[in-house]
Amino acid sequence: MALLAELTHRCPLKCPYCSNPLELERASGELSSEDWFRVLDEASELGILQVHFSGGEPMARRDLPKLVAHATRLQLYTNIITSGVLLTDEAMAALLEAGVDHIQLSFQDVDPVMAEWIGGYAGGHAKKLLAAQRIKAAGLPLTTNFVIHRHNVDRVDAMIAMAHALGSSRVEIAHAQYYGWGLRNRAALLPTREQLDSATETVEGARDRLKGAMIIDYVVPDYFAARPKACMGGWANRFLNITPSGKVLPCHAAETLPGIDFPSVKSRSLGDIWSNSDAFNRYRGTDWMPALCKSCDRREIDWGGCRCQAFALAGDAATTDPACAKSPDHFLMAQAVEESRPDAEFVARGCMQVPRVSSDTIYVREF
Ligand code: SF4
Ligand code: FES
Repeated sequence: MALLAELTHRCPLKCPYCSNPLELERASGELSSEDWFRVLDEASELGILQVHFSGGEPMARRDLPKLVAHATRLQLYTNIITSGVLLTDEAMAALLEAGVDHIQLSFQDVDPVMAEWIGGYAGGHAKKLLAAQRIKAAGLPLTTNFVIHRHNVDRVDAMIAMAHALGSSRVEIAHAQYYGWGLRNRAALLPTREQLDSATETVEGARDRLKGAMIIDYVVPDYFAARPKACMGGWANRFLNITPSGKVLPCHAAETLPGIDFPSVKSRSLGDIWSNSDAFNRYRGTDWMPALCKSCDRREIDWGGCRCQAFALAGDAATTDPACAKSPDHFLMAQAVEESRPDAEFVARGCMQVPRVSSDTIYVREF
């Protein structure tokens, strides 16, 4: 179905829930434009339909318009997932000429002070609002993204109103997922059960109110769930990720799993990796499953949940995701919720401990 092209780990923002690895790839280790052209050719041959250009911040790559143009020539649907802070008039014009189909723009909050505290980028919120206007003026469909957590979850109503006012055809309200930096900062970011229930009620009300006008996607945190999410729609089932240096992964966090050799586009074709590599076949389908999942009627609905979460929490990637209430490790989720603390400080991506601010504090972080 889709290829997530992680063009770079470079990013002007420093969100504490970033799902990129703790060890970021340097610019010198990134694939060249020519490497990406070949990868896109192979993606098209493999039958992939969509390419999501992501990062880090994909617009930190100067060759982004050339990559989009190449994908467009191959008739791939192109989406750019961006923070928007580099989306100037010139950049928008170049992407439009390249044939971009869709832009997904992330916001950290509706409150500029809180947004800039979380994103670690002074002046970022205003730039994002301008980027949204440019996307709409270019006539492109806009999806706005809000990652929500303990410090902004109470403003979900205002986020939906802002997305609608910006002319979004879709808004994604997604609770932070706890991989990479997110896992490291989990105690500071997990909302309370009361906050989650209130946000869910708000989303349901807005869905009724805005039916036909704007799609609202809502992703809840696994930590309060009784059944896991079908992570990536099942391991190596519909999606693949390519890292900035060219490693091909079934999901963005797969490199956290020990003992798997993830092949590179530099040495093997995408089709060969997809069909024949140990990395893609290891947890594909249902054969690898523990008895608990194999005998469960949801085994081809959630595919046993998330392998990376199973490893991160239970220490075994081949066990049932602890998000499942049937799992003997399910107590770990409740334990993490109990350990979350309203006063916990988080570590910004690749950075320092960040003190709390409130929305009435004038605050600019310096890096
Ligand atoms: Fe899903 Fe396995 Fe839980 Fe069944 S036992 S709901 S397949 S995670
Ligand atoms: Fe890797 Fe879910 S993030 S399988």
